[in-house]
Amino acid sequence: MHKTHTCGELRNTNAGEQVTLAGWVNRRRDHGGLIFIDLRDRFGLVQLVADPVDSPEAHAALEPVRNEWVLQIIGKVRNRPDEMVNPDLETGAIEIEVEKVNILNEAKTPPFMINKEEDIDENLRLKYRYLDLRRERMSKNIVLRHKAIKFIRDYLDDQGFIEVETPILFKTTPEGARDYLVPSRVHPGKVYALPQSPQQLKQLLMVAGVEKYFQIARCFRDEDQRGDRQPEFTQLDLEMSFVEREDVMELTEEMFSAMVLKLAPEKKMLQTPWPVFTYKEVMNRFGSDKPDIRFGLELVDIADVAEGCGFGVFENTLKSGGSVRGINAKGLGGYSRKKIDALTEYVKQFKAKGLAYLAVTHENEVRSSFAKFLSEDKLKALKEKMGAESGDLLLFVADKEEVVFDALGRLRIHLGDILELRDPNILAFCWVIDFPFAFWSEEEQRWDPSHHLFTSPMPEDKHLIDTEPENMRGTQYDLALNNYEVAGGSIRIHEPELQEKVFKLIGLDPEVARERFGHMLEAFEYGAPPHGGIAPGIDRLVMILAGEDNIREVIAFPKNQAARDLMADAPSDVTDEQYKDLHIKHDIKKED
Ligand code: AMO
Ligand code: AMP
Repeated sequence: MHKTHTCGELRNTNAGEQVTLAGWVNRRRDHGGLIFIDLRDRFGLVQLVADPVDSPEAHAALEPVRNEWVLQIIGKVRNRPDEMVNPDLETGAIEIEVEKVNILNEAKTPPFMINKEEDIDENLRLKYRYLDLRRERMSKNIVLRHKAIKFIRDYLDDQGFIEVETPILFKTTPEGARDYLVPSRVHPGKVYALPQSPQQLKQLLMVAGVEKYFQIARCFRDEDQRGDRQPEFTQLDLEMSFVEREDVMELTEEMFSAMVLKLAPEKKMLQTPWPVFTYKEVMNRFGSDKPDIRFGLELVDIADVAEGCGFGVFENTLKSGGSVRGINAKGLGGYSRKKIDALTEYVKQFKAKGLAYLAVTHENEVRSSFAKFLSEDKLKALKEKMGAESGDLLLFVADKEEVVFDALGRLRIHLGDILELRDPNILAFCWVIDFPFAFWSEEEQRWDPSHHLFTSPMPEDKHLIDTEPENMRGTQYDLALNNYEVAGGSIRIHEPELQEKVFKLIGLDPEVARERFGHMLEAFEYGAPPHGGIAPGIDRLVMILAGEDNIREVIAFPKNQAARDLMADAPSDVTDEQYKDLHIKHDIKKED
């Protein structure tokens, strides 16, 4: 070893010891002859001092040294004088009197500061990710991620789960996104698909009798990128046999509650046990199936007041089967026209056609884009329905229900940010259950499963599949945390006949279903146990525990918003030979 100790572990008790340390120069200062260096490794920082009189050789060797050079030093630990003790540094009570210096490597000046938290262009950070990861914040995030994964592995091992690896080169696994495909060299024209999740394989492991399976699994989805989405991401993938949905929910809740307590004890859980909402309830109250329940500002359905109210936008929407709902933005009654216009632009991004407003000033006067159409009585009823007090701002959207929910749901979050109601130190986990089994897709004129193809309907709803699919609930359970969907799972279909009926319902031709999922249908004929599972997204969970708002901050080597790896420059060109090997003809011009 090049070192006897890490840069983070020396204390007063080590005073007088001779130590060998190795690490990076975090900072170098020249103080009237004395050279001070903060030496850094992953474990911490320690101050080195070189005295030109006591150790002239070491002092001279440290003369040319700059930030990020790699050093090995031999020196003696000594207590700092009282007035020099740095309480902010774990090793702040001591320093190292350098006796010998070995320069292990020099470093160019990095493209951004490593030793200081500052705003850096993210593309630059991603290009030099290995330098970015040296920074304290990123190093902490990567360690936290390791701890979270280790916690999960230990916890599930204790509960009798085993981790089983499943293939990356597999067959298309429908989870709602596009597949990443890998053409086969040995089988011209055939392709593997990278799994969007190990869904089918974990179910086959249940048929195999594994009973309690988990995997820290890499998943691949070719979809549009967002702050909480990556083309490849990590799930804690989990499946159990002989369970009902409450069993899976309970295990998940106990595991993550224990994990929060251990890894983020400074965070408070809003409510335990975690509240369980139906899909209908969260949509009605929060306009979202992954609600942030840390604050109010809930949606209010004003259909009964809006009917015949005199305002055409509301009345016509209701007549055509739409919905009119509002939010009381408490205390924003003083908002200027310009600020309200900005909120209007905000909801227009989500397909709302406008945002009707009614502000109650502190003088109890009404300022509104539509109140002039309303009678005294209607106005009074509306204010009452919305719980309006002086100083409040009422905001309304009238549209198809899905647009109203989406626009107001997002506006609610936006207002929560404006009003600083979203305390990052509070973790508000909640379950959402009783999703509709499927949604009717106007575009494709068929039923679209609200989870995936293998999710079972609720046992008491199974008989509705041929007659009233619209009234069938699925066994899906989603876990929401502070406006993120952090996990999704369900009880699965284990009966081949029911699976075939679901394929039929969603418009999958029986022949195509056999071709794609024959292995599943066949496996179910050999004694498949009832089973169910869940898949928490590790990246999102760790992001929230770390207090970050982007999953790229907790992934060592993420892709950027355009799904590119800027460090290695992937995706990249390959040679014509490689294409030929894969039997691929192409006429794509090379990108500049
Ligand atoms: P689902 O598709 O809901 O379920 O995914 C489960 C969880 O994975 C996370 N997640 C993502 N994280 C980062 N980037 C992405 N692109 C991304 N997509 C999903 C989310 C989500 O809640 N096989 C089923 C699970 C099951 O039924 O057991 C599945 O994959 O946190
Ligand atoms: P207009 O009649 O278009 O001038 O709109 C009058 C007010 O109603 C404005 O404040 C608009 O933002 C608002 N508005 C228009 N369409 C809708 C809608 N579909 N939902 C809610 N408000 C709307």
